Amino acid sequence: SQMSAFGTIVGGDTKMRQMFTLLEDVAATNATVLIEGETGTGKELIAEEVHNHSPRRDGPFVVFDCGSVPRELIESMLFGHVKGSFTGAITDRRGAFAEAHGGTIFLDEIGEMAIDLQPSLLRVLDKRAVRKVGSNTYEKIDVRVVAATNRDLRAEVAKKAFREDLYYRLAVIRVSVPPLRERGSDIPLLIQHFVNNFGPGLNVTTEDMARLVRHSWPGNVRELRNVIERASLLAKGQSINLEDALVSEAAPSLGIRTDLPFKEAKGQLVEMFEREYIEDLMRRHKMNLSAAAREAQIDRKHLRELIRKYGLDPRAKLDGDDEPAED
Ligand SMILES: Nc1ncnc2c1ncn2[C@@H]1O[C@H](COP(=O)(O)OP(=O)(O)OP(=O)(O)O)[C@@H](O)[C@H]1O
Ligand SMILES: [Mg+2]
Repeated sequence: SQMSAFGTIVGGDTKMRQMFTLLEDVAATNATVLIEGETGTGKELIAEEVHNHSPRRDGPFVVFDCGSVPRELIESMLFGHVKGSFTGAITDRRGAFAEAHGGTIFLDEIGEMAIDLQPSLLRVLDKRAVRKVGSNTYEKIDVRVVAATNRDLRAEVAKKAFREDLYYRLAVIRVSVPPLRERGSDIPLLIQHFVNNFGPGLNVTTEDMARLVRHSWPGNVRELRNVIERASLLAKGQSINLEDALVSEAAPSLGIRTDLPFKEAKGQLVEMFEREYIEDLMRRHKMNLSAAAREAQIDRKHLRELIRKYGLDPRAKLDGDDEPAED
C-alpha cells in the first residue's frame, strides 16, 4: 500500500515510502510542517509537492529563504511595510506572507533566523494575521506554512539559539529526510530518473552504476543530479560519460585536479596563477618592467624570468640583464 513516488519525488527505500505516505496524509490538511535534512536531500522539492497535493494547489507557493535576506530587512520582507516606516520605504510593500495568501509559504533555512526576530514570526503563526512594519493593524491571512532546515533544530533549542515555543509551533508535523548514503537502493532509481531528464535513451554501464552506488554523496541528491547532468552532456556514443563528469566534479572553483599526484596538481595550479597574474600585471603596466616589478614587489630579474617562462609578449626584450629602453 506504500507509495514509491510522491509527485516528482522518486524513492523506493522503506523510509522514503513511509515518508510519502505521511506526506499524502499531511498534504490534505493545513498542518504546519517542518522538514529536516542535509543539504541536497530534496527539502524544497518536498515542500513543493506538499503544496501541489494540497487543496491549495491553485494558490501561490512562495519561497522565503531566511538565510539569504539581510537581518534588517527580514521583517519587512516577511510581513510587508507601510510607506515611510523607515528610510527607503518609499511605497507600501506586501510581504511574503501576504503574497502567499490562499497558498503555501515555504520558510527555507529557518534555523538561520536571528533569535530576536523569532517572536514576531511566532506571533504571526499564532494569530494567522500579519502586521506590516510601521502599521498598527493586523490583516488576516490564510497561509499554510512549511519550513525547512539542515540544522538539528532541537540542538539549537537546547543551546538557546532557537526558541522552543517557535520550534513546537513549526514542528507540528516533522519530516526527516534521510541522507542519500542511507538509501543506497534509491541511487539506481534516481540515476534512471535523471538520465531520462538529461539524456533520454542513454545507457549507464554496470561499472558506472556500481561506482555511483559506492560513492558517499555528501551533496546528496543535488550532487547526483549534477553528476548525471554532466555525464549526459559529455556522453560519447550510447552511454553517459561518468569518467569525465567526475573529473570536472573534482574540479570546483580553482580547478584543483585531485586526480593528479599532489605535487603535480599543485604545480599546475601555481602555473595557472603565475600566468594570469603576470599577464594582467604587464598589461596594466604596458610592458614596463620596472613599474610592474615595483608594484608587484618582486625583483625585476624574477619578473623577467616569469615573462620568458610564459612567453607573454614577443615585443618584450628579455635577453640579458640590461635595463629595457622604456624604463
Ligand atoms: N527524491 C528525489 N527525486 C527526484 N529529484 C530529487 C529528489 N530529491 C532531490 N531532488 C532534486 O535534487 C535537487 C536538490 O533538491 P532540493 O533543492 O529540494 O534540496 P534541499 O534539501 O532543499 O537542499 P538545500 O538544503 O541545499 O537547500 C533538486 O533539483 C531536486 O529536484
Ligand atoms: Mg533548499
